[in-house]
Amino acid sequence: MLVYLNGDFLPLEQARVPVLDRGFLFGDGVYEVIPAYGGRPFRLTEHLRRLNHSLGAVRMEAPLENDQWRQIIQRLLDQRMGEDQQIYLQVTRGAYDKRLHAIPEEVHPTVFVMATPLTPRDPALVEQGIAVVTVEDIRWQRCDIKAITLLANILAQQSARDAGAHEAILVRDGLATEGSASNFFLVKKSVILTPPKSNHLLPGITRDLVLELAEKADLPWREREIPVAELREADEVWVTSSTKEVMPVSRLDGQAVANGKPGPMWKKMDALYAEYKAQLQQRLKDSGHE
Ligand code: PDD
Repeated sequence: MLVYLNGDFLPLEQARVPVLDRGFLFGDGVYEVIPAYGGRPFRLTEHLRRLNHSLGAVRMEAPLENDQWRQIIQRLLDQRMGEDQQIYLQVTRGAYDKRLHAIPEEVHPTVFVMATPLTPRDPALVEQGIAVVTVEDIRWQRCDIKAITLLANILAQQSARDAGAHEAILVRDGLATEGSASNFFLVKKSVILTPPKSNHLLPGITRDLVLELAEKADLPWREREIPVAELREADEVWVTSSTKEVMPVSRLDGQAVANGKPGPMWKKMDALYAEYKAQLQQRLKDSGHE
């Protein structure tokens, strides 16, 4: 399997970065995870827009133009022609001869991209729904940046695993923000609700698509703050991400969500999502590009 590292395509085993890389020393970098269906990247424009937002927010110049990213990504995907895959893309601030917090005057970033097979969602979990737990959100104030510095997310995810759950929903000042690696939605009285974009959550590409699909299908939706207590009284809870798509939540902190089964609104949204994917793939096949 070839990966991309700083201008070269080389076997994964030969891809090396220096130990003084600021990504390794400080977690000084940003990333993206982009799904690809049938060998075509999904919502790539949106992912590249978010990447450029993250880079700007940490004061890094974009190392590549969008067209260059596209070419690299397609070349990696073509190794498994037509298969569902996921792209992992990371830009760190690079390696220098001294470990200093301050940003070097001249930056030469480390750019790494790889494509790996996409692990399909577990059909049993999609059918039953997943268990989630709530944990305190101990992260910083710039959660809108997709930074590789993920310790707080890792600890939150592990709390979920320790409790036999699949995901943790983070709570800051009594408000639910997002999952450890996902956004969340709830349904109350047939209205789809999710917190508004802010510095306390990552603007999920899947989240935006869910709202877009709700709008197109005339399903009522609103963005507003969600006190954690409301989650416990929700008719439905979902979590979304590029790899989970729209996952129903059937248990929250050990209690059933409503009747403990994925709800009717989730079924509609999951079907709309699948339909959107299928239509997009057909269009890409017909036109040859995004
Ligand atoms: N994470 N919030 C956080 C904290 C995330 O890490 C992610 C995704 C999301 C959902 O974003 P999107 O819909 O664009 O995937 C929200 C990726 C999948 C990861 O870190 O592996």
